[in-house]
Amino acid sequence: MSKNAYLPYYKTAEGAYVRSMEQYREMHKKSIELPAQFWSEIAVQFHWETPYDVDNFCSYNFDVTRGPVKVKWMEGATTNVCYNLLDKNVRNGMGDKVAFYWEGNDPEDYSKITYKKLLEEVCRFANVLKSKGIVKGDRVAIYMPMTLEIVITMLACARIGAVHSIVFAGFSSDSLAERMADCKCKVLVTADSVYRGDKLLNIKSLCDIAMDKAKNFGHEIPTCIVVRHLPRLYRSMNTTNGTNGSDSDTIDLHSDVPWTDGRDCWWHDEMDDVEPACYPVWVSAEDPLFMLYTSGSTGKPKGVLHTTGGYLIYAATTFKYVFDYHPGDVYWCTADIGWITGHSYVVYGPLANGASSVIFEGTPFYPDNGRYWSIIEKYKVSQFYTAPTAIRALMKFGEEPVKKYNLDTLKVLGSVGEPINPEAWLWYYKHIGKERCSIADTFWQTETGGHVITPLPGCTPMKPGSATFPFFGVNPILLDESGKEIKGVGEGYLVFNKPWPGMMRTLFGNHERYQSVYFSKFPGYYCTGDGARRDEDGYLWVTGRVDDMLNVSGHLMSTAEVESVLTEHPDVSEAAVVSRPHSIKGECLYCFVTPNNGIPFTPKLSSELVKKVRETIGPFAMPDVIQHAPGLPKTRSGKIMRRVLRKVAVNDRDVGDISTLADEHIVEELFNNRPEKT
Ligand code: WT7
Repeated sequence: MSKNAYLPYYKTAEGAYVRSMEQYREMHKKSIELPAQFWSEIAVQFHWETPYDVDNFCSYNFDVTRGPVKVKWMEGATTNVCYNLLDKNVRNGMGDKVAFYWEGNDPEDYSKITYKKLLEEVCRFANVLKSKGIVKGDRVAIYMPMTLEIVITMLACARIGAVHSIVFAGFSSDSLAERMADCKCKVLVTADSVYRGDKLLNIKSLCDIAMDKAKNFGHEIPTCIVVRHLPRLYRSMNTTNGTNGSDSDTIDLHSDVPWTDGRDCWWHDEMDDVEPACYPVWVSAEDPLFMLYTSGSTGKPKGVLHTTGGYLIYAATTFKYVFDYHPGDVYWCTADIGWITGHSYVVYGPLANGASSVIFEGTPFYPDNGRYWSIIEKYKVSQFYTAPTAIRALMKFGEEPVKKYNLDTLKVLGSVGEPINPEAWLWYYKHIGKERCSIADTFWQTETGGHVITPLPGCTPMKPGSATFPFFGVNPILLDESGKEIKGVGEGYLVFNKPWPGMMRTLFGNHERYQSVYFSKFPGYYCTGDGARRDEDGYLWVTGRVDDMLNVSGHLMSTAEVESVLTEHPDVSEAAVVSRPHSIKGECLYCFVTPNNGIPFTPKLSSELVKKVRETIGPFAMPDVIQHAPGLPKTRSGKIMRRVLRKVAVNDRDVGDISTLADEHIVEELFNNRPEKT
C-alpha cells in the first residue's frame, strides 16, 4: 500500500459492519461468484408476499448480439416497497421512531415525523391518488420542493403500484413539459411556492406553464394536486399542529396562486376526509417502482426505469454498508430528492433500514455560510452526505463558520456526483471530519440505482480522489478502445460485465435506446460512459465522462442539449459547447456561437443566449461564457473538433495536431476572439 492512503477511523473503533479489507474481499468474492446466495441472504430480511426462488434468483443478458438485453432479479416474487419501508418498521416496534427531521429554509421552520405518522399520511395520500383514478402502472409526475409531502407522495405511489416520475424543481417549464408528456402522467403533484434562501420561487405558476406546454406535445394532465407550502411557518405559529392544517390562517398568501378549477386541487382539502389506512398492492419484483430522467448525449432526456425488488435490496444494502448506519445514528444527505441521490439515499435506502434522517429544504448559504454545520450540530448528525461542489463552495469561507459548531457526532462523510479533487477531499477530511471520520467517495449514476464503486467506512484505506473499490455484486472492468480488457495498472472505459440488483432495467418506452446507449459499444458489457484508471494498489480513479456529457455542480447534461437551445435562437447559425474546469462547479459551460450571416455578435445577443439556456433547461445549466466564433474548427468530414475548443476555453495554445481541419486558420481566430484576455 502506498504511503498516501488514509486509514479509516473505524479501524480501531469496533462496530463497523465490515472491519477489514480481508472481510470485504471475502464478501465481494461471494457476491460475484454466488450472487443468488449472497443477495437472498439479504432479501430474507424483507417481506415477500410471494417468496422468491433462490434457484431462479437472477437472469440476464448483457450481450446485444445474442438477443435483447434483459436484467431480472427475483422474478415471480411479489412485494411492496412501501410496506417494507413503513409497515414492517412499525410492526417491529419502531412506530415512534423519527423517520425524518424536516428543517425548513428558515431556521425557525422545522418539524419531524415518526414512522407511524408517516405510514398514516402515506396511506391517506394513497387513497387520494386512488380517488383520482390512479391505478397500478400509472405514472405520477412530481415537481416539488424538499418537503415531507414529496416523500409521502413517492411512498403513496409505491403503495398502490403507481410509478413516480420526479422532475427536480429547478428544471424549467419546458423541461417539465417534455418529461410529463414523455411519461404520460395522469397526475402532477406540486406545491404553491417555496423560498430558497431569500428568493421566492413560484412553483405552481411554472407548473401551469408546463401543463400548457405539455398539450403541445399532445398530452393533457387531468389532475394537479397542490401542497400549500408557503405559509407553513405562519400556520405553525398559530396552530398546535403545524403540518397540513387546513384552517386557522390569519394571513392569506394564496390569493395569487394561479388556479384551474376542475383540474387543480389543494392537498390539504383532499387529505381532509380520507381513511388513514390503505392496503398495499402487491406487485411483482420486476414491476416498475419509479422512473427518473437523466440527460442523454443526443439531447432528449432518457427515462431511466427502476423496478421493485432489486432496487429495494440494493438501496437498503448500499445505505447500510456505505454509511455504516447503525440504529441510533442520525443521517443527513443534502441532495435534492429530485435527483437519484435523493431517491436512493434520502428516501428508499434510509427508510429500508429504519433510519432517522434529516431533510433540508434550504441552501448552505442561508441565513449564513454556517448553515450546514449548524444543522449537523442541531440534529447530532453522524453520517453526512454531500457533493464536491458544495464542499468547494463552503471551503471558500475558511474554517471560521465551521468552528462555531460542534461536529463531534460525525462518523462518516460522503461525497457524490463528480470526482472530488484532493484539495476539497482534504479540507472535508480535516476541517469537517477532524481527521477521525471516514470519507466515502461514492461513484454511481442515475442508471446504477445505487453506489457501485465506493470505500466502506471502517474498512477501506482511503486515497483522496479515488472511489476505491466495487460494492458487493459489482464487477468493474477497464476496456481499451478495441474492447480488450486492461488488467492491472492502466486507464480505459469503465464497464461492468454483470448486473447488480439495483441497476436500471430499461429506458421508459424505448428499450432500443437503452441497448444502443449502454450496451452496444462493447457487446457483453454495461458501459458507464466514464473513464477510469486503476493504480498499482488496485484502486479505481474515475477520470470523468468519455462522451459529450458535462458535469456542472454534479448535474449531468449533454453538450447537444445546450447546443440545440442556442441554435434555436433566430440569430444563431451554429453553436458548440465544451466544458471548462471551474473552481467551484467542477466544470462550467463554455459556448462558441456563430451568428447568422450579416448578424453582428453583440453583448445583447450574448445575454439573450445565456437567458435562453437558463430558461429552457434550468438555472444550473447557465453558461459561464458565450464566445463569438466566426467559424467552428471542423474536420473535412464536418465533425467539430471539440478538443481544440476545450483548449481555446482554457487559453492553452498547445492544441496538438490540427492538420485534419478543413480550415486551420479558424483556430488562431478563436484564440484572438476570447472574451477574457487571460
Ligand atoms: C455521473 C452520473 C450518482 C448520483 C449523482 C449523479 C459522475 C458521480 C462520481 C464520483 C466521479 C462521479 C460520473 C457519472 N459521478 N459520482 N464519486 N466520482 N464521478 O448522477 O446525474 O446520473 O451522473 O456523475 O460522470 O457517470 P448522474
